[in-house]
Amino acid sequence: MPEDIVVIGAGGFGRETLDVIEAINAASDEPRWNVVGVLDDAVGGIHLERLEARSYRHLGSITDNRELLDEVPHVTAIGDPKVRAAIDELVGGTLTSALIHPTAVVGSRTTIDDGVVVCAGAQLSTNLIVGANVHINPGAIIGHDTVIDEFVSINPGAVVSGEVHIERATLIGAGAVVLQGLRIGAGSRVGAAACVTKDVATGATVVGVPAR
Ligand SMILES: CC(C)(COP(=O)(O)OP(=O)(O)OC[C@H]1O[C@@H](n2cnc3c(N)ncnc32)[C@H](O)[C@@H]1OP(=O)(O)O)[C@@H](O)C(=O)NCCC(=O)NCCS
Repeated sequence: MPEDIVVIGAGGFGRETLDVIEAINAASDEPRWNVVGVLDDAVGGIHLERLEARSYRHLGSITDNRELLDEVPHVTAIGDPKVRAAIDELVGGTLTSALIHPTAVVGSRTTIDDGVVVCAGAQLSTNLIVGANVHINPGAIIGHDTVIDEFVSINPGAVVSGEVHIERATLIGAGAVVLQGLRIGAGSRVGAAACVTKDVATGATVVGVPAR
């Protein structure tokens, strides 16, 4: 029997997460997940149209569905790390596994915590520790022995080298490169296409090549 799941977030990453769930189901003999519906406080207009075009139900806001969230496992599929962390604080996490697209590659001795979403074509090397509710977007590459703390988002095509420590709720922008052995401080933001050559301070935003 497929397990029920609720997706929080009807925006771009929410619908990408639905793709991951569909791909997991398609790759299994029996569907692994049954999507009960999607929650989003602010959804409307084009996002709702795109959701309904795929026959998924918008169940309403998070506030209106607290009892459902207590009962049914949910994944918080909102790209902004800080918003995602705030929602998790509000509703708590109940998903006891990660959602990993079948085309993602996961190396040996890599551990991936609950509520993580790994999208198509991502490559995770050996001996990584990936904390709860991390998002790894399509085509991102993470090097060996890297530690990614909870609520981090690695955007599409980013390359994180080996032995890096990315602290809680950090955003690594699309196509950014992080050189080996660095510490990327909690709540920081690395701009799209940046090349990070030095540690990034807690809460800092860095852009450019080299990133400043
Ligand atoms: C770095 C980032 C977090 C800053 O966001 P922000 O605080 O809203 O910044 P703004 O858009 O107000 O831009 C501020 C300045 O930084 C510049 N800037 C923004 N992002 C930049 C980047 N990635 N590289 C170089 N410069 C950048 C802007 O041009 C602007 O410069 P100006 O003051 O001379 O006009 C954001 O721009 C970014 O790169 N986010 C990642 C985007 C991404 O990965 N998208 C894919 C989603 S799937």
